[in-house]
Amino acid sequence: MKVIVCDNYDEMSLQGAKIFEKQIREKANSILGLATGSTPIGMYQHLIKMHKEEGLDFSKITSFNLDEYYPISQTNDQSYRYFMNEQLFNHINIDKNNTFVPNGEATDADLECKQYDEKIAQYGGIDIQLLGIGRNGHIGFNEPDKKLFASTHKTDLTQDTIDANSRFFDDIKDVPTKALTMGIGSIMKAKTVVLLASGKNKHEVVNAMLDDFITTDIPSTLLKAHPDFILICDKDAYEG
Ligand code: F6R
Repeated sequence: MKVIVCDNYDEMSLQGAKIFEKQIREKANSILGLATGSTPIGMYQHLIKMHKEEGLDFSKITSFNLDEYYPISQTNDQSYRYFMNEQLFNHINIDKNNTFVPNGEATDADLECKQYDEKIAQYGGIDIQLLGIGRNGHIGFNEPDKKLFASTHKTDLTQDTIDANSRFFDDIKDVPTKALTMGIGSIMKAKTVVLLASGKNKHEVVNAMLDDFITTDIPSTLLKAHPDFILICDKDAYEG
């Protein structure tokens, strides 16, 4: 595990973007694993700038997002599909047909999850996976539990996650209570994993990442067993 501590959010975002830039310049048809939430927005802005000003080319890139609320319409402005279009895809030259987000409109969620993993495998697996981290240590929507799942699956969101995500909704009652998410195995299969953590409210969980233990009570700690895992955090997350 490699740890990079940055002065602030923007520096963290730039460091993350540079790692993805290197991957894309070295392998034009890379398979990227992407995340939503507040944390990666700055990194996406840097990637957009690199595309516009330095010719970073996404034309051969394929992407798979970690998760999506369930059920939710793809045109709902709270859906992760909508978020990705707005925050990244609409501003770079990626072919949207090569961008995959679990389908929150699927009638058969289990089939959708199975096919999502099959598609990742069909593309040869994820080269580099971006993650944010829940303050309870969730990655994707793999919430703390005795038992975690390896594959993409439908899951219930914890009250803590619903509370945290309610900031994006008019009313907490509107926050979906379920999601489709890549499993821990799907994430661990990525060749490289990059986790961004920013802000004092992530300090406790970042501390757990810096310690040596692994527990399903803090799912992100499983990443310590990944052979190429990079944790990039700002000072607030690192020092509290
Ligand atoms: C998003 C995701 C979540 C977020 C996490 C942190 O696709 O899978 O695990 O990364 O909830 O969210 P923010 O960045 O909003 O603090």
